[in-house]
Amino acid sequence: MVVRLLKSIHFDFIRIPHTMTSGMSSSMSSTGETERNSQSILQGQQGSGRSSALKNSQQLKRAAYICAFVFCLQALLGAVDADPVLASSLGFCKNVPVLKGAPLHCCLPAPKRTPIRFKFPLIPRNLAGRLFLRERKPAHVVQKDPEYVRKYNLAYARMKALPDTDPRSFLNQWRVHCSFCNEAFKQRKTPGPLGQETGVPLQVHYSWTFLPWHRIYLYYHERILASLINDPTFALPFWNWDNQLDQDAAMIPAMFLPNFSVPNAALFDEFRNPNHMPPKILQLGYNSKLEAEGKQNLTDKQIRYENLCVMYNQVATKISARDFLGGPYVVGTDNSAATVNVSAGEVPGESGGMENAHNVAHEWTGLINDPNHPDNEDMGNFIYAARDPIFYSHHSNVDRLWDVWKTIPDKVTKSGSRKRMDYTSRDFLDTEFTFYDENQDMVIVKVRDSLDSSKLGYKFTDVSKSDNMWIYYEPMPPHQSSGPSNSSDYPAAAPSGYNYIGTDPVSFRLDRRAPTSEDARQSGVKNVDQLQENVVLEKVKIPHLEYARFDVFINYPAANRQTHLYMSEYVGTFTHLPSGMVDMSKSVSESSSNSNDEFRIVTIRYSVNAALKRLGITDYNTDIIVTIVSKGARNSGRKTGFTFSDLKQDFQ
Ligand code: C2O
Repeated sequence: MVVRLLKSIHFDFIRIPHTMTSGMSSSMSSTGETERNSQSILQGQQGSGRSSALKNSQQLKRAAYICAFVFCLQALLGAVDADPVLASSLGFCKNVPVLKGAPLHCCLPAPKRTPIRFKFPLIPRNLAGRLFLRERKPAHVVQKDPEYVRKYNLAYARMKALPDTDPRSFLNQWRVHCSFCNEAFKQRKTPGPLGQETGVPLQVHYSWTFLPWHRIYLYYHERILASLINDPTFALPFWNWDNQLDQDAAMIPAMFLPNFSVPNAALFDEFRNPNHMPPKILQLGYNSKLEAEGKQNLTDKQIRYENLCVMYNQVATKISARDFLGGPYVVGTDNSAATVNVSAGEVPGESGGMENAHNVAHEWTGLINDPNHPDNEDMGNFIYAARDPIFYSHHSNVDRLWDVWKTIPDKVTKSGSRKRMDYTSRDFLDTEFTFYDENQDMVIVKVRDSLDSSKLGYKFTDVSKSDNMWIYYEPMPPHQSSGPSNSSDYPAAAPSGYNYIGTDPVSFRLDRRAPTSEDARQSGVKNVDQLQENVVLEKVKIPHLEYARFDVFINYPAANRQTHLYMSEYVGTFTHLPSGMVDMSKSVSESSSNSNDEFRIVTIRYSVNAALKRLGITDYNTDIIVTIVSKGARNSGRKTGFTFSDLKQDFQ
């Protein structure tokens, strides 16, 4: 038991970067210093074959002693071994830039009372003593219940009627998303309303904070709606856009549209793509550029196959917390910065598979390819998205998929026995967020409070029949031309150099190696057979205010923008939605899009175990060809492509 605990602490030290901005280290506790020492020891030890075996074993011993020491300290003091981001104070809020019009003010009203700590709700029990959980139902089903739509609409009508000074108002609910998703606030490093700020912008996308933050956001949003109609049993619907079984599930649910059978004006939003109204179904392989060129001509059946394949690659093949939830986010992580110094311990933004899939639904729903709306409002831009009531229903489905993900059997690792679990590090669990509750109180909530939806008092209607269609999806057989024989014709990526992704697809050779026990140890799994192999695009430079999409194929260099995603060679998608963090001293326009301040740096992971198996690649000596198909930025105003620093293989 103790050994296991030590091991888990040990892993956390290695995996979690402690990015320290200048001036911060002075107030580090001695525990923090110890931890950084042990981290560097372990990093040195994993570094390569450079250190001698003797040195290794000494370092291991030292590391073990330090771990044991820190473990005892923790036990004694209940101290935190980590650098979790703490609840933001609401000072230092800045306006958020957009492409068209003046920067937006989306700062929140100040709390009227002292902020309180989150407590789990008391969950009622039925006569048989079983917990009564509110049920979030599929939108395409629950919209057939006029009483539900009446209440749902009434709740939003009342929310929209609240004054601007009330944090429960619809405008302020939008502001919560706009501010925390667009770096309007700064990270804090010391607790309390007057705690010290780090100077680093706070961002809840592009990392492991994405799913927990949005879950708690929806939890309070739902509580507020429920209290406004005095119905504690009220639950949000979920827009079941991954469902390819029910005819209308992936369409924009009719209750959000005009001319519905029950009054629904409060659920309507005018800034939605007029070309994507029912009976059009949401397309997870959506490419707005192809659509603008009139070349996106798939049948509904093809769209549904692509959707299954995208869900399969973005959710079902993701087995580690990192691949599904996203990369670490700790004090000092600045995933809005245009430069990332990895050797100084800084980490770039890293969205998980779920976040990338969810972005597409945003882009597809918002206005795009409309020159009067370069910001793709509402859903197509994080800044505006939460102005559309459908946003909350969309995220309710994302929230549901997080629960579903944990139940998916392991069909992707060699062992077939790996359980899908959330991160267990304290950096993750103790990360704090700030929300307003239904009583207008500011509440500080920790990530650890968000991991079990039933403890928050709700559950989702079981739609496993449609889930299983993508969980057990089998892509089409590989192309004839697939094969590793010609991988030497392609260049490897220039390491830590300048690699370019233009409008035409680019292919690189990726030299592979076998996983080691060190890889297993770092990922916290027992042996190498439980690892997922990934293709990793490192430090991709993405403009803050633009849409981007990269689809990746292995051993199919002929792939292009029109290659179907239900092919065996397709391994996943990266998407970026516009969100604002630019240097406000510079003008924000298409023409200035080369200014360095307008980019963020992200790492993108594609999980390939299942694809390698389909392609008959069973060893680790075979190199592969990785083809990156950029589906371009929006409005084709952008001439330059994207750059990345390296293409790597990694195991999680
Ligand atoms: Cu904060 Cu769907 O985004």
